Amino acid sequence: PTDTYTLNNGVEIPCIGFGTWTITDRDTCISAVQDALNAGYRHIDTAQAYQNEAFVGEAIANSGVKRDEIFITSKLSNKVRGYDETIQAVEQTLKDLQTDYLDLFLIHWPNPIAFRDNWKEMNAESYRAMEDLNKQGKIRAIGISNFRKHHIEALMETATVKPVINQIELHPGLLQEERVNYAHEHDMLIESYSPLGQSRLIEKPEFDVLCKKYNKATAQIILRWQIQKGHLPLPRSTNTQRIAMNLDIFDFELSDEDMSYMDGLTFEGLDQDHDPDTATF
Ligand code: A2P
Repeated sequence: PTDTYTLNNGVEIPCIGFGTWTITDRDTCISAVQDALNAGYRHIDTAQAYQNEAFVGEAIANSGVKRDEIFITSKLSNKVRGYDETIQAVEQTLKDLQTDYLDLFLIHWPNPIAFRDNWKEMNAESYRAMEDLNKQGKIRAIGISNFRKHHIEALMETATVKPVINQIELHPGLLQEERVNYAHEHDMLIESYSPLGQSRLIEKPEFDVLCKKYNKATAQIILRWQIQKGHLPLPRSTNTQRIAMNLDIFDFELSDEDMSYMDGLTFEGLDQDHDPDTATF
């Protein structure tokens, strides 16, 4: 088992999770999640939009690992907003994942195109449903993803439960300092998706000197940097060896100088995430 972070509601969360975005093929998904559990991941991140929750559920059910030893995250689809609709969507997710509770459930995007005209009200209604499911014990923690400050402030006008996490794209070259600082000021943890820049950082020569110094691969250097910054990375892979190596990051520590060096790296084309207010999904 890996170390944990403690969320602002007291719930413990393993400090690294296995990401499942784009793993939509049934057999590939089942074997990837099985590989992850075998390697020692105890935190699986999925979403209604990934269309793989049933496969993730099957892999977990067949793994022999007890449900309460695994932290499972899902996210509300961009197609779903409203109180009743959100309750129903969570029920379907629970069925697909073959479980009677979620550890974490996030609003996936603040501002989906289908609700662009009334996103504030619709997020408020969905979040109210999530708060009720939280109170009933069906979701142990609730939060948000891809939210900017103005979306969080809008949500907090009616929310009674503070989000525990904002899950955003974050990696060397995309530090997201404003969002990180805002989250930390409000006791929210940052989860990093695309922590390896969707693999585009792997071949960058800027990491070579660190790989030699610590005798680790670029992916491991980057994931270690994520943890030392206090973030929770969600690396994806469908390869057994790479799934395991991404977890092998707890036997070394990057120096302060090397952390600063990595903070300062910039990469063309890797310095921006999707702007939720203009994204067309
Ligand atoms: P693969 O599935 O072939 O391993 P991110 O998590 O930033 O979105 O990056 C995911 C991508 O990075 C996937 O395409 C994955 O490909 C690749 N990847 C994951 N782990 C490693 C690793 N340790 N070394 C090289 N590539 C990796």
